Amino acid sequence: MKNGDKIILAIETSCDDTSVAVLRNTCVLSNITYAQIIHKQFGGVVPESASRKHLEAIITVCREALAVANVRFNDIDAIAVTQGPGLMGSLMVGVAFAKGLSFSLEVPLIGVNHLEAHMWSLFIDNLPRFPQMCLTVSGGHTLLCILKADGIIQLLGQTQDDAAGEAFDKIGKLLGLPYPAGPEIDKLARKGTPRYAFPKAKMPGYQFSFSGLKTSVLYFLRENTAKDSNFISDNIHDLCASVQQNIVETLCEKLVKASEEFNIKEIGIAGGVSANSGLRLHIERLAAERNWNVIIPKISYCTDNAAMIGRLAFERLLNGSFAPDDMMPMARMPIIQNQQR
Ligand code: KG4
Ligand code: ZN
Repeated sequence: MKNGDKIILAIETSCDDTSVAVLRNTCVLSNITYAQIIHKQFGGVVPESASRKHLEAIITVCREALAVANVRFNDIDAIAVTQGPGLMGSLMVGVAFAKGLSFSLEVPLIGVNHLEAHMWSLFIDNLPRFPQMCLTVSGGHTLLCILKADGIIQLLGQTQDDAAGEAFDKIGKLLGLPYPAGPEIDKLARKGTPRYAFPKAKMPGYQFSFSGLKTSVLYFLRENTAKDSNFISDNIHDLCASVQQNIVETLCEKLVKASEEFNIKEIGIAGGVSANSGLRLHIERLAAERNWNVIIPKISYCTDNAAMIGRLAFERLLNGSFAPDDMMPMARMPIIQNQQR
């Protein structure tokens, strides 16, 4: 772009959503996400199929993102892509596509950490006010962080086993719900009462653990369906409400503790589970009680999307942190903590 504005084309293919966004600086001009439905029948993401579907969809999604944004190739100032963490085959499709575009258009390539991008989704429609507490709750990760000025991230704690989204999905499977079960549990829980008290893991500090909840639901269902084969279908709403309440309370207890300890009232929730209506409601209540300033992105920026990749890439573009030609995708990619970029 000529007038000092920067146009970024961002690509996200870390798991099972093919997403391309176009941003002018921090403003999202388009954000097109194609969710792969092929995995529903298998009850989880099949990595090989996910890679193939990304390859099939990527040009169509990219064309649409450019058309909606009314941007042409020669307007683009940088290509951003998710470098990791994620499924290796899926990441490779996005990274190879991004490398090809950056090379042929002769514009820089920016590799972005998917989890950091989830955190920066808070600042798509809101100005950053650091320090910002951020709870990132996705299918693969549960992280509690403080985002500080100049891109410094302090990781307070994370899950030691299943992530919150994974817990929703695995428990949903036990309840016979289709994948991904998070949104299904959310819907069913609205008509239920949380009358089953499942135990909460007592984890030190800001660590999380959700695999114990999954096991206790498994044993509870086994015991009760042995006595009554209709137990699940007759009590599905209350079961969903109980599981959801357990997860929401566990997440919020740590959030409250961290907000008090670090005296931060700028609170943000990111990642797919932040779409959960029970979590949103609980956070709203806490915000009113505790005078929190809460940011929860709109749903299309909560679940995997390329707009958040572009938003974080804009920061990288400003300080010239570009990927080398030999940048490789990383299935595991640590968050760079306490380090100025
Ligand atoms: O952030 P995301 O789209 O992908 C990852 O990076 O993992 O998160 C996907 C996760 C899935 O586990 C899905 O079940 C969960 O987010 N999820 C929800 C809701 N919508 C999506 N969990 C609970 N309630 C929802 N409404
Ligand atoms: Zn994600």
